[in-house]
Amino acid sequence: MRCRKCGKKAVVSLRAYRISLCGDCYVDFYRKLVERSIKKYRILGKDERILLAVSGGKDSSAMVSVLKELGFDFEILHIDLGIGEYSKDSRRKVENLSEMLSVNLNIVELEDYGFTIPQVRGRVCSACGTAKRYIMNRFARERGFDVVATGHTAEDLASFYLKNIAGGQQVFAEKLIPRIEPFDAKVVAKARPLFEISERENMLYALIKGLPFKSGECPYAPRPEWKEIVYDIELKKPGFTRNFVRGLVGKAENPLETRYCSICGEISSGEVCSFCKIRMKFTRSSKGF
Ligand code: AMP
Ligand code: FES
Ligand code: ZN
Repeated sequence: MRCRKCGKKAVVSLRAYRISLCGDCYVDFYRKLVERSIKKYRILGKDERILLAVSGGKDSSAMVSVLKELGFDFEILHIDLGIGEYSKDSRRKVENLSEMLSVNLNIVELEDYGFTIPQVRGRVCSACGTAKRYIMNRFARERGFDVVATGHTAEDLASFYLKNIAGGQQVFAEKLIPRIEPFDAKVVAKARPLFEISERENMLYALIKGLPFKSGECPYAPRPEWKEIVYDIELKKPGFTRNFVRGLVGKAENPLETRYCSICGEISSGEVCSFCKIRMKFTRSSKGF
């Protein structure tokens, strides 16, 4: 098969766009997709102080590289969750990426807050999500960043939505929009520049560009059943995931009333924030309180 743009041998075939491309033309195509989305939904501004949250996986690694290609200025943040070899390897990948692309890397160790993920019992993934969101927001605010961007993909948004709706839960619109403005002085804006890009598109870009990234799931990750459902639909109806998340955008609702945690002072939905509850339960020392 030949590349639709230049006629060279195609290495990538995208069913959702009904197009085959060579490596160079794919990189170009991907960059334009991300650029269009950032402009259309005003996800990031060139005059903002941007912090990119980078896990060492393909999605956030692709985000770092493409935003650099698009001329954005930013620093990156990696949170070391203390999950043995998994975290060590993820951290190494982020260090290699930051060297390769010459970007400033910040590392925060969860252990500095008194615990690591393997010490958490019960709903590990949900505690981990709470910890990551907390640290991203606090680090960004304390260092004067305007916005934190994550590598959430179209599959992340679509599966989150389906899972919650199917479970009869209210889905807060803040989870579904490409940019959330701060509703309080303690909150930094959140951006998802890859919200309409698929995991496969990120993977192809990362492979073609030779970016360092870690494959393999976190040892605590449950089976991603809702994502598998999204993959299945996409297989039968190419383009479904992207169209679905585009449809979700704009279903915004007002955030809840803001309160502050009585222990750490960060925003909270109750007397004590969820991060401090986890910390009090699992921490061995009072370091970081
Ligand atoms: P996940 O929750 O693992 O699906 O990751 C979603 C996004 O959160 C990633 O694309 C990253 O932007 C960010 N992220 C996840 N883990 C970390 C980490 N350990 N350090 C910094 N950012 C992370
Ligand atoms: Fe958080 Fe696996 S990365 S529990
Ligand atoms: Zn707190």
